Amino acid sequence: MRRMIALMIKVGLLGCGTVGGGVIQLLRANAAYLEARVGAPLDVVRVLVRDPDKERVPELDRARLTTDPEAILGDASIDVVVEVMGGLDPARGHLARAIAAGKQIVTANKMLLAIHGGDLLESAKKRGVDLAFEGAVGGGIPVIRVLRDALASDRIASLAGIVNGTSNYILTRMRADGLSFEAALEEAQAKGYAEADPGLDVDGGDAAHKLVVLAMLAFGARLDDAKISTEGIRGIEPVDHAFADRFGYVVKHLAIAKDKSDGTGAGALELRVHPALVAKDAPLANINGVLNAIAVEGRALGPCLLSGRGAGDLPTAVSVVADIVDVAIAKKSGTAGQSTRAIRLAPRAVAPMDDVEARYYVRFSVYDRPGVLARITGALGERGVSIEQLVQQGRGSTDVPVDVVMMTHETKESAIQGALGAIGKSDFVAKPPRMIRVH
Ligand code: NAP
Ligand code: HSE
Repeated sequence: MRRMIALMIKVGLLGCGTVGGGVIQLLRANAAYLEARVGAPLDVVRVLVRDPDKERVPELDRARLTTDPEAILGDASIDVVVEVMGGLDPARGHLARAIAAGKQIVTANKMLLAIHGGDLLESAKKRGVDLAFEGAVGGGIPVIRVLRDALASDRIASLAGIVNGTSNYILTRMRADGLSFEAALEEAQAKGYAEADPGLDVDGGDAAHKLVVLAMLAFGARLDDAKISTEGIRGIEPVDHAFADRFGYVVKHLAIAKDKSDGTGAGALELRVHPALVAKDAPLANINGVLNAIAVEGRALGPCLLSGRGAGDLPTAVSVVADIVDVAIAKKSGTAGQSTRAIRLAPRAVAPMDDVEARYYVRFSVYDRPGVLARITGALGERGVSIEQLVQQGRGSTDVPVDVVMMTHETKESAIQGALGAIGKSDFVAKPPRMIRVH
């Protein structure tokens, strides 16, 4: 009896660190199941790294390691190129070459997608190949497919997400276990959650890159050069967690997008990344540790929450390997490029941050002198900012500062920024005021 031998799908892996190692492990662990699904074995024939002597996952056949990108980009027999090396260059050039060579592409590189995604998608469409990137946002959460396919019939009104696992891990460990920022960051790095440059995590850049990618899918927005207001978590102190708790909130780091056009697709998008107070009983408040969640509001669907592990080797590998399976099946069935053609992008403006309206938590560290409160409330009142609650914790003195914390009613960002700027210059202020928006 003759047995049909399925031609293998050859995969070239660019990078074998946290995510690449997870990809190798998952492909090995689920090889038979994945072969049955694709109709051919998936074989990682070459793995590009910088240091060929470094320790790698034991499932890797070290004979396949190379430090020469040509071994993958110049090999016409490779069907799928998977980029999990990170950074802009040389990743961008490698992917441009792989697309030009007609290879199917998978990447988890949100920075590259946020900055050059529009061009890369255009090139992939022209060449009739797929550019798949489920691993770029939310680790193992299938949010890209949900926005691209499952919610394609609806118009998205807004989304708000905890999209940086490292920041959420740090905030959770600080609040729940009293760890210092530095100790919590070290743990996140040891667990493989952080970027090679952890500043991208804790200063909000990574979440901003992911927001741009989400806005591509949710609103068809091409935002290559957009300036997105981005704040990280470095300034959040234990005292802010304590006050937030007292007011009924937890501090979370959020990426927020709102379509200001009422569904016509013409107006500006509100896009921002910053810490936020989230009410304790809201779903996002209970997303802890490395978990991510994206709360999507569809105009027809209403609210929908997606959550799961947002960083780390195997969770991210789940998304990357699912993409490898999809692009391999598309290649075999002659439908390469179809899913990428479904992503249609047009430039969208970003609304000025000054127009944002929210309630605000503000903490002033002030010397306890007569008249200080009146000057603070005066500066807020002059700009139309009304106070909902006010707490002074403890008793300071003329040279030992005390925290005065306020929750405002809804007001404009420009008004609160103006007031904080003026108060911050006063001689009774020990350090710049801390402001956190209420979500
Ligand atoms: P990583 O652990 O630093 O691994 C990067 C890999 O790429 C390493 O194997 C490195 O080689 C290789 N590499 C980097 N630059 C190279 C170059 N110029 N030439 C050859 N090889 C190079 O990073 P990672 O955490 O796996 O992240 C990879 C990508 O996935 C990034 O875009 C990241 O943003 C994204 N991502 C990460 C996670 C996560 O949880 N870590 C989740 C989702 C998405 P050496 O090993 O020899 O140094
Ligand atoms: N450094 C990223 C994070 C990895 O912590 O969320 C997942 O994209």
